[in-house]
Amino acid sequence: MITATDPLRSLTDGRFRFQMALRPGEGGAVFGPTLHHATVMAERSRLLATTPGLYAAARPGLQDALTKTARLVNQWLAATGTPTVELPPPPADETAGSLTAWCTLAGTRWEPDWMILRPDEDDIFRLAAGVVCFPSGWALTDKIGRPLEEIHAPVPGLNEALGRQIQTFLLRLKPEAVWLRDNWGLSADSALNHHPSLNLRPLTASARLAETWLRYEEQLLVRLPDSHDVLFGIRVGRVRLPEILPFPEVTRRLRTALESMPEHVAFYKGIDAARPTLLAQLTALMRP
Ligand code: HEM
Repeated sequence: MITATDPLRSLTDGRFRFQMALRPGEGGAVFGPTLHHATVMAERSRLLATTPGLYAAARPGLQDALTKTARLVNQWLAATGTPTVELPPPPADETAGSLTAWCTLAGTRWEPDWMILRPDEDDIFRLAAGVVCFPSGWALTDKIGRPLEEIHAPVPGLNEALGRQIQTFLLRLKPEAVWLRDNWGLSADSALNHHPSLNLRPLTASARLAETWLRYEEQLLVRLPDSHDVLFGIRVGRVRLPEILPFPEVTRRLRTALESMPEHVAFYKGIDAARPTLLAQLTALMRP
């Protein structure tokens, strides 16, 4: 079965605000193959073959979590009716180097990005391992080993608005119960990989709707069996705005979100320079 994410789900109704917006779901929604499976896998393999140090990382002592992740992913793939992925067992020596090599291999075989968080002795969730080939403007290597609150620190207002709810949610997760949520942004290109080292062209004050993409992420959160570790999956998609603006509801939602977004959030999301012109173009589209 092919997995499809609805790009419009990320664009929620009403004024912009950071929200948990979690819904129960299936692992296949993020780990199942999409229509673009072959091209996405080719891009992941290319990135991980040329610069694995930028996209994969692991802390020592994660063998059990990686073993459970591989088992869970195969259960989800089987449930979508697609072939499972055979990987060697994660290395028993548990060093950061050999676990990172295993993660790199898994990163060439699983379609979405993924990370593992492990709570420390104070129940603070820290990023312990993962492969992120298609980040939205951040680098896995800057975040590895850090607590989630620190990871979220560059997002203005996020910890204040949701930090406590996120921590409570992660602590209360029931093993193997899958939760999904969405994020969205706008970009000036259709590249999946927005690693900061690429210095991609930002949206500017002369942005045109016709040359702007909605970048949407479907995220998965699940607690691994018999542990307190959490697997966090991210599938990124993008669609050029002209493909979705014919739906008046989309135009209205995007306009409301852009108009109501606080300036510091618009700056963080790289939308601040383009916002006035995009708003004017959306308003023109809405005129009868
Ligand atoms: C329920 C849990 C979570 C919620 C509600 C949440 C929410 C958010 C939101 C709203 C953003 C800003 C995105 C944007 O508007 O462009 C964000 C960014 C981010 N989140 Fe989360 N998040 C959650 C869990 C996680 C987890 C488990 C990780 C794992 C490491 C994570 C890593 C990140 C990263 C790396 C960023 C980008 C930070 C940067 O730009 O430096 N989040 N998150």
